[in-house]
Amino acid sequence: MFFVKYPHRANFSFADRYDEDSGEIELRGKRFKLAVGSHEGDLYHVQVSGPRNWQRNLCLESLDIPKKSKRARLKAVCDDDGLALELAGRSGPLFRARFGASGDKSMFALEFGSTPSFYGMGEKTFGKVELSGFRAKFWNTDVWGDFHFAQWGEHPTDPSYFSLPYLAVRVGDECFGLLVHNPYPAYMETPGSDESRVFVEWQRTSPLLQIGSEGGQPNLWVIYGPTIKEVTRKLQKLIGVTPLPPAWALGYHQSRWGYGGHDDLLALDEQFEKHGIPCDSLWLDLDYMNGYRVFDTNPEMFPGGVDVIARKLRATGRRIVPILDPGIKSEPGNPVYDAGLEHDVYCQNPEGAPFVGMVWPGETVFPDFTLPDVRDWWSGYVAAFANEGFGATWIDMNDPSTGPVDPTDMLFGRGTQPHEAHHNQYSLGMQMATTSGLLAARPDERPFVLSRSGFIGTSKHAAVWSGDNLSNYFYLRVSIPTAIGMSLSGQPFNGPDIGGFGHDATDALMVDWIKCGFLFPFCRNHSGKGTRPQEPFAFDADIMKLIRRYIRLRYKLLPYLYNLFIDQEELGDPVLRPMSYEFEDDGLDLIDDQFLIGPSILQAPFVTENLKFREVLLPGTEPWYDASNGEWIQPGIVNVRKLKDATPLYISAGAILPMQLGTPTDNRKDFSKVRFHIFIPPAWSGESEYRYRSDDGLSFDYRSGVRSSLALRLVAVDGNVAVSIDQPESGFGKIEYDFVVHGDVKSLRCNSSVARLSRASQTLTGKSIKVLAATVN
Ligand code: NOJ
Repeated sequence: MFFVKYPHRANFSFADRYDEDSGEIELRGKRFKLAVGSHEGDLYHVQVSGPRNWQRNLCLESLDIPKKSKRARLKAVCDDDGLALELAGRSGPLFRARFGASGDKSMFALEFGSTPSFYGMGEKTFGKVELSGFRAKFWNTDVWGDFHFAQWGEHPTDPSYFSLPYLAVRVGDECFGLLVHNPYPAYMETPGSDESRVFVEWQRTSPLLQIGSEGGQPNLWVIYGPTIKEVTRKLQKLIGVTPLPPAWALGYHQSRWGYGGHDDLLALDEQFEKHGIPCDSLWLDLDYMNGYRVFDTNPEMFPGGVDVIARKLRATGRRIVPILDPGIKSEPGNPVYDAGLEHDVYCQNPEGAPFVGMVWPGETVFPDFTLPDVRDWWSGYVAAFANEGFGATWIDMNDPSTGPVDPTDMLFGRGTQPHEAHHNQYSLGMQMATTSGLLAARPDERPFVLSRSGFIGTSKHAAVWSGDNLSNYFYLRVSIPTAIGMSLSGQPFNGPDIGGFGHDATDALMVDWIKCGFLFPFCRNHSGKGTRPQEPFAFDADIMKLIRRYIRLRYKLLPYLYNLFIDQEELGDPVLRPMSYEFEDDGLDLIDDQFLIGPSILQAPFVTENLKFREVLLPGTEPWYDASNGEWIQPGIVNVRKLKDATPLYISAGAILPMQLGTPTDNRKDFSKVRFHIFIPPAWSGESEYRYRSDDGLSFDYRSGVRSSLALRLVAVDGNVAVSIDQPESGFGKIEYDFVVHGDVKSLRCNSSVARLSRASQTLTGKSIKVLAATVN
């Protein structure tokens, strides 16, 4: 597998004949069958079958395909050049696509009526929200293992750990999505290279969008929006929304390669307690294992067993999350290895013996997660392991990483399937098996799995972190567009190693990183062995206090974050989103260092070293609330000075944000008591709505009605505010609430009562702000 070589159009034959009645196309005289399916919601499925060596769709996870529809926005037509697929837009075709093949490779080449822009592509470190002029590969990679250090130190590398071959395209003001639903390696080449960087002709990308796979049956989904929000929601529902995670998984997580067992966990627990820093879980990397053997806990690390420390940590509500790798030490006498041999669970080499790669314990063999019986086998171990006292699982190296050994010798389906057919979804099978193991151990608890690699369907089983980064400003900066790309590609539960994994985080970097990442969907501080310790209390007191302030602020905002995850499950909206998700201003997608959390919070953090000022673009037509000082700022470009405590964070006019009361100093969460912070610019007239939901945060009972909700509607006329509140669902009991007003309202009514307003103060990101506390009888 060459990472930086891509198929070229000239080496493909394109369908030069198409018979509309039979659906037959011809490529150099060979006949193929084209099927274009139309589905409700303006979704279209293009599938080609025929004489090539194209295996049927081997994707492990099925799509949630809407019913058939008669709508025909995507049409196959025959013109002078043969087959053309056309997607109708409001005023003419949005694209005209040709289909071609080159051996087992397939390609859709799209031509656009006007200049397109591109988004998504899953996990990429290109550092851009808008992705014109890139060549990209989709082949799950252990970046540190497969690229030379000099390449990943401060530059984008591609492919990445996680493959989600999806591209959102905007043409004019209409958006559509293209999903390559095929586990074989995929590729994309987007037109629009930055001409200033083109010194040699081949540096310029193709003038057509080229998208396809290097094998397997061509299966392309075309999803019409027309807005980016609609496209993303439809994609998410098609590939699977992220089921509501347990609330604790949305907290702050502390990890480091180096924590051993009982003593380290206890010491960490005491430190978090002592410093009043909320933290929901402590993560164990390889050192808890017995000689890197999977499912084998080193007894010296856990005198009396894992449960002893797990029970102690229950007092502070912290879970233990151990790492699991797929590579099982190849060693007769290792019970897991022996059992695997007996059950014939391992991927095979071309000679029919278990394939051997090199991972932490040396020679390792790999369960074949594409097989249902092997997933059951693994899941049994996960269940037993969870019962030892572990709260969740972190699955790593599932790209799969095989060290210096060529992974293409690893065959699937007991030697019947080529490696390429399943490489990208190896981790998906592992996620499916791991999740079901956790569910078997604790059927009433929402499981939580964090995975490094993934594929289409991972959204249903696991959160993903962006793999190994470094403690430097390059990785801090790219964490924003990478997270946006993941969010737009249907993997909403994602985040980077906060503080950076490799190298030493400086004080300044650590503070800048937590300010940037404290509201990311997944929030974990993880660092590599031998690097500078990165726990908040490993820094001097003044730095610790800054880090702590933002962790506490995450917990204060947990009701908002939790409700965004509820929306994700119901509607398919990502938690972290680009500004263009909510605003229509021109040029928003060219800004790579700003993002939204939900519809109402905009962050524009400092992500460049030593920068004292930065420009912030506040989109829309309404003023924004500066959370550092309580001032209202008109939309447009503002120049912002870097402050020690604060970070540029803005809240939209009319926003209703549910928050926990006070300043959280531990990880307690009670979503039945909530304070609504409402944000009203001076003399503002406008309207907004918010739906707040509360449940037990842990079980599946919410699915059978054990949930309460409040529906809020706010109307402001010239600074006089009326909020009507209903409790349409009461399955989880009464929700107690009150209000805090940010802004100078003239009056506040809540349902039929007039609220008494008294002066109070609040601290969010910066200094103490004057607010109005409302008491409603
Ligand atoms: C690679 C993972 O990306 C990293 O997070 C982990 O610490 C190491 N493996 C060691 O397990």
